Amino acid sequence: QEIVLTGIKPTGKVHLGNYIAAIKPALAIAQERPCTALYFIADYHGLTFIQDRNEFNDLSYGIAATWLAIGLDPERVIFYRQSDVPEIFELSWILSCLTPKGLMNRAHAYKAALDTNQQLDVDPDTGVNMGLFTYPILMAADILLFQSDIVPVGKDQIQHVEIARDIAEAFNRNYGETFKMPNYLVDEHTAVIPGLDGRKMSKSYNNTIPLFETAENLKKLIGKIKTDSTPPHEPKEPDTSNIFSLYTHFATPDQIEAFRDQFRSGISWGDAKQELFRVVNAFLEQPREKYNDLIASPDQIDKILYEGAQKARALAAPLLNEVKQRIGRYR
Ligand code: TYM
Repeated sequence: QEIVLTGIKPTGKVHLGNYIAAIKPALAIAQERPCTALYFIADYHGLTFIQDRNEFNDLSYGIAATWLAIGLDPERVIFYRQSDVPEIFELSWILSCLTPKGLMNRAHAYKAALDTNQQLDVDPDTGVNMGLFTYPILMAADILLFQSDIVPVGKDQIQHVEIARDIAEAFNRNYGETFKMPNYLVDEHTAVIPGLDGRKMSKSYNNTIPLFETAENLKKLIGKIKTDSTPPHEPKEPDTSNIFSLYTHFATPDQIEAFRDQFRSGISWGDAKQELFRVVNAFLEQPREKYNDLIASPDQIDKILYEGAQKARALAAPLLNEVKQRIGRYR
C-alpha cells in the first residue's frame, strides 16, 4: 500500500492556505484510495520558531483540533504528534551525519533569515538557531522513516521534499538501497494560496485568514482582502481575483459558475466578499463547533494522539533497526 504523509508545524493558527493546499488534499487521498495515511503535528519543527511555553502548547493543540474538526478520522489515518515518536529524532541525527552542510546553506527558510538580516544590516546569524538551520534534515527523517510515497504539500515545501530525496540518495549510495524516494504532491491550483495582501498567505506575513475564527472575525478578515479599484458596476476578471480564487475551494461547481457570471456582469467588491464569506462560513459552521468542543477537552486529543504515536512507532521500528544495522550499530 502507498504511504501518504504530511505535517503542519504549530507556529500560528491553521489558515485557509494550510487547509486548501495540505489538509484538504490529504484528507481526500485518505478517503479515496487504499493507502496508509500518516498525518502529524510537526511540533518540534515549530519549536525552532516558538519558544514561549503557553503559545507552543496552545498552538499544538490547535493544530490537532483543527485536523479532527475538519474531518480526519483517527480510525483511518495514523494521526500523531512528532515529538511522541522518538525514532524520528534518532533517524534525524543519523541522516545529519550524511548531509553535506552546503545542502543546508541552500535551504530557503535559512536563506530567507540571512536575507532579512542583510536587509536589516545586522549580524547574519541573528535569530538563526541550529534547529532552523537543520530543519530540512528533521523533515527528511519525518518522511523517510515511513518510506513515504506521497507528500501532499504547498509549493513552499517542494524544496524540502527534494532535500529529503537528496539525503535518501546519499544514504542509499553509501549503505545500499534502504530508503524509498518520496514524491511531493502539489496541485497547481492550490500551490500558492494568496493572503489578505495578495502575497502568499503566511503566518510570517501576518496576512492569514485562520480557519477557525468566530463568524464575525471571519467576515472582518474577508473584508480586508485587497482588491483593485475597478468601480462597483464594471465587469471584473474572476481569474485574477483572490476573492474568486478562494471561493473556488469552498463552493460547488454551479456556485462557481454563477459567481463567475456575476464577476463578468459587474458585482461590487463588497458583494463579492459577502458571497465569499457566506460559502466559507457555511462550510465551517459545523467544524467550528466541533473545534471548540475539542479544544475544551484536551484529554480526548491526547488520547487520540497517543494511540496514533503507538501505531507510528510500530511502523517505524523495523526500518530504524535496518538503518542501525546498515550503519554498523549492531554486530
Ligand atoms: P507549514 O506548517 O508551514 O504549512 C503546512 C502546509 O501548508 C502549506 N501552505 C501553503 N500552501 C499554499 N499556499 C499557502 N499560502 C500556504 N501556506 C502554507 C505548506 O506548503 C504545507 O504543506 N515544513 C512543513 C511541515 C512539515 C512537513 C513534514 C510537511 C514538517 N515535516 C513532513 C510534510 C512532510 C511546514 O513548515 O509546513
